Amino acid sequence: MLIERSHKESRRLSYVECGVGEGHTLYSVWAYLNEANPSLIRGPGAPHYLLMDTFQGVDPSILPKEEAEKGHVTQAYGGDTLDVIKQRFAFLNDLSIIAGTIPSTLVEIPEQCQLPDFLHIDIRIASQKSKR
Ligand SMILES: C[S@@+](CC[C@H](N)C(=O)[O-])C[C@H]1O[C@@H](n2cnc3c(N)ncnc32)[C@H](O)[C@@H]1O
Repeated sequence: MLIERSHKESRRLSYVECGVGEGHTLYSVWAYLNEANPSLIRGPGAPHYLLMDTFQGVDPSILPKEEAEKGHVTQAYGGDTLDVIKQRFAFLNDLSIIAGTIPSTLVEIPEQCQLPDFLHIDIRIASQKSKR
């Protein structure tokens, strides 16, 4: 999608991820683009990346009482706190990170990311005890 858009648009593209966890999706997308279209990664059209997460797991204060009691993960996924993620993706040129609970942090989204070219929403709140 980003590659396709990069052929049509002369403006800078944007990648937004809501629920970053350990950063697997971002790294996979970046690695794919790096192989498939390195000029998109490094050129003037390189995407602006925006990562949004609590970096502390699920915030039980926004859940209904019966949900909050189900044992959601309330710690950084894989121990990946804001500092760990900042370090892991320090190689990205144009990276913004918004730490806090969605939806209250949505107002902080910078203008260039308000209509993302690629949006990944992965703020799963399934409890550890829920059955599949
Ligand atoms: C399944 S993980 C995301 C995995 C990630 N997309 C990846 O590719 O590795 C879910 C993430 O959502 C975050 N999260 C859950 N509820 C959230 C909320 N209301 N606001 C922000 N982040 C939230 C958690 O802290 C956790 O890091």
